[in-house]
Amino acid sequence: MDALLPLGIADGMLYVSLVLPGMMAQNRNLIIIAAVLGSVLNVLGYFFSPPGGELTHVITNRVLAFFTICLAAILCLLKNNADEKLTAARNFLEARVQDRTTELRDSNKRLNNEVDSAKLVKAIAMASNETRAIDDTLSFCIERVCKFADWPLGHLYLTEDKTATRLIPTGIWHVRDPGKFDVFQKITVDTPLEIGVGLPGRVLSSGEPEWIIDVTKDPNFPRAKQVKDIGVKAGFAFPILIGPEVVGVMEFFSTKAVEPDEEILAIMGQIGTQLGRVLERKQAQDQSDVSQEQLRNLYHRLQEVREEERTRTAREVHDHLSQLLTTIKLELSLLDKKLADHNSGTQKSTQQLLDMSDEAIQSVKRIAMDLRPPILDDLGLPEAIEWQVKEFKSRTGIHCQFLNQTNGDEMDLERSTTLFRIFQETLTNIARHSQATTVSVKLYTSKENINLQVEDNGCGITAEQIQSLRSLGLLGMRERAMVWGGNVQIKVADRGGTIVTINIKRDGNAKNEGEN
Ligand SMILES: Nc1ncnc2c1ncn2[C@@H]1O[C@H](COP(=O)(O)OP(=O)(O)O)[C@@H](O)[C@H]1O
Ligand SMILES: [Mg+2]
Repeated sequence: MDALLPLGIADGMLYVSLVLPGMMAQNRNLIIIAAVLGSVLNVLGYFFSPPGGELTHVITNRVLAFFTICLAAILCLLKNNADEKLTAARNFLEARVQDRTTELRDSNKRLNNEVDSAKLVKAIAMASNETRAIDDTLSFCIERVCKFADWPLGHLYLTEDKTATRLIPTGIWHVRDPGKFDVFQKITVDTPLEIGVGLPGRVLSSGEPEWIIDVTKDPNFPRAKQVKDIGVKAGFAFPILIGPEVVGVMEFFSTKAVEPDEEILAIMGQIGTQLGRVLERKQAQDQSDVSQEQLRNLYHRLQEVREEERTRTAREVHDHLSQLLTTIKLELSLLDKKLADHNSGTQKSTQQLLDMSDEAIQSVKRIAMDLRPPILDDLGLPEAIEWQVKEFKSRTGIHCQFLNQTNGDEMDLERSTTLFRIFQETLTNIARHSQATTVSVKLYTSKENINLQVEDNGCGITAEQIQSLRSLGLLGMRERAMVWGGNVQIKVADRGGTIVTINIKRDGNAKNEGEN
């Protein structure tokens, strides 16, 4: 266009229009090329324009146009530079924001994990201090760890009694999907582990938590060798410690191969010490159970020995002493007859001696009966109770009736003795404490039990008296019944008075048979 106009007409200002695309151009090279092109065109315009115009005017115009082009180009370059800086600053800021967001997300995750671990440790500490059954506490803890790690299977191994070189599997498990790990559970139940063997054995030897990424590829995991697919892959385990001593190992399994998680392992260390206290309590409880069992056996043995002694003494007194007295009485009456013929004065004394020997015979019989009524050995429990009821009635004046509903069911002598002795203790209590006027006794059998119910119409026993640790008579009754898998129930009757019901199992051996 410049070339079509006469010289000086274009005034060179046309090239300023290059400013506009320059302003819009994002590329600095484009701006420079446009500026150079504008300048070249400006110069060419001078040569190719049709003549006309004043020379100084024309040159001034061309120079001005050149400056304008340069200025526009410089401005464009400056703007472009500023734009670039702005973009760089924005990108930098965006990257920083991105970084901070990631950092924040990470620390949030860490915080959540820490909260979860703190919650886990707290829950386990609380459970450890609760007084619920120890096995329940242990399975609760296994369940919590499974939930925390999001692993589906957990189990407890305990060290064998008194030796810290062997681990025995327990029945304490947590299985998220019941039935899914049956094979592995079955193998575990049959696999005690020596120190250093398998995952738990390694924990027992190191005293530290251990992790296996894939047990099926581990050379030291015997349980994986038994069947092709045991259904578990990754495993971790940690020791339960009492002081420095490992007393148990808790193991956990996942169905996938998982890389070790240091955080989980660190928390498990803490939990292991916490659970040590639970196992310490379990050991104390086991020991106390054993002592209690021994005490119970001792009590039972004592009763047995007492019974044997009573039977022997009763027999001795009855058979020997009573026979001796009868002979003395016989001899005395003969002597009495002989003396009566010669010396009537002695008759009074011999009569006195005869009365005394009668009394002695009666007393010996009573002692023998008290020690152990032969009726129990000879005729059985219902007859012995019948006799005891009569004896009680005549001794105390309390009306007493007996109902026998055994329908001739047989019962062995040991059970009969137990029931009879408890019955005697019950009658003694009625005579001593109840102020009753009537007592009813019922002996009956059910499918599994022999039952004896004794009801009086006295003042009634109180709940405190039933529960009291000082009620040793009642305690003895319960202990005797327990030997035969039975119990003694004592309650206040609706109409006042006390009902004592004794149930013992008809079949089975004594609980502590063979241990004495
Ligand atoms: N039939 C009963 N009627 C009322 N109180 C009873 C009866 N049997 C037991 N008791 C109460 O229960 C307590 C505990 O009985 P027991 O253990 O046999 O102890 P003891 O007879 O040596 O006092 C008795 O002291 C008495 O107060
Ligand atoms: Mg008593």
